[in-house]
Amino acid sequence: MHANGFLVDIPPIHSLLSFAKFGAFDHRRNCAVPLFPRRSGRKRRKLLNRMCIAPTVWGSKQGEDMALVAERMKLVSDSITLAVSAKANALKKAGVDVVGFGAGEPDFDTPTFIKDAAKAALDKGQTKYTPTPCIPELKAAIAEKFSRENYLPYKPENITTGAGGKHCLYMAFMAVLNPGDEVLIPTPYWVSYPEQAKLAGGVNKFIAGQEKNGFKITPQQLEAAITPKTKIFLINSPSNPAGHMYSPEELKGLADVIAKHPNIVVFSDEIYEKLVYGNNKFVSFATLHPSLIESIVACPDPRKQLSHPV
Ligand SMILES: Cc1ncc(COP(=O)(O)O)c(C=O)c1O
Repeated sequence: MHANGFLVDIPPIHSLLSFAKFGAFDHRRNCAVPLFPRRSGRKRRKLLNRMCIAPTVWGSKQGEDMALVAERMKLVSDSITLAVSAKANALKKAGVDVVGFGAGEPDFDTPTFIKDAAKAALDKGQTKYTPTPCIPELKAAIAEKFSRENYLPYKPENITTGAGGKHCLYMAFMAVLNPGDEVLIPTPYWVSYPEQAKLAGGVNKFIAGQEKNGFKITPQQLEAAITPKTKIFLINSPSNPAGHMYSPEELKGLADVIAKHPNIVVFSDEIYEKLVYGNNKFVSFATLHPSLIESIVACPDPRKQLSHPV
């Protein structure tokens, strides 16, 4: 990105978004700086000249500085997760005994065998550019995991990776949506889905999970929400934030509806597949109907299970 005379690498989209919303990159100090403090007049313009990424939030005068950023940035809201986490941290700092329900992260350290493998890879010189979708060995290992644990016949060439679930989902929305395409999102939902869909030109349609159904949606509700413009059905089970899980039978009911609509792509966010308790049984959505294998983006992620940075 070239702005104000600086040439910089574009950071991953989530960092870009949080810079644009909450801060910017200071080239003299070579770091991101928070822009919460309100600055006005000359001081603000001086600061702006040092930034490569224009912020949207300067005090409350959003409109004034929005000229510097892309129109699409107006579409997205601030991250509620970050706001809640920041509030919890501030309360903790102030000595309040508080449990943060913002960012979802295991409360244990990354296991030693993972840290050791990462160190060994660095020592072996595995520090160079890799193919964009990831190294072939990782793709083969992921394909093997899908086959062994999820009964999914995906081949290494069907697999790509990214810097976490958020990044992968964003890439998937960008790859699938055309402007005006509808995205069906059951409520309650993880807050990033609608923002990412909007950035990719999608129109969100929410299907209300009702309390009497454990906040899950029914096949009838799904069928009723589908229109000729529906492009993506998003399902997240086990769910954040509801904490519930659809049974295999409940998922099959939804899969049978989707199978009747070959133009719909399913994004099955399976990031919590290992966080299953009691007698619940996890199944991958793509296994529920033969026609779904080709139209599913399954999204598992070791970070949630192994406290493992991606
Ligand atoms: C349901 C759901 N999907 C995806 C993600 C993204 O995970 P990541 O941290 O790997 O980007 C999260 C993160 O909390 C999540 O709760």
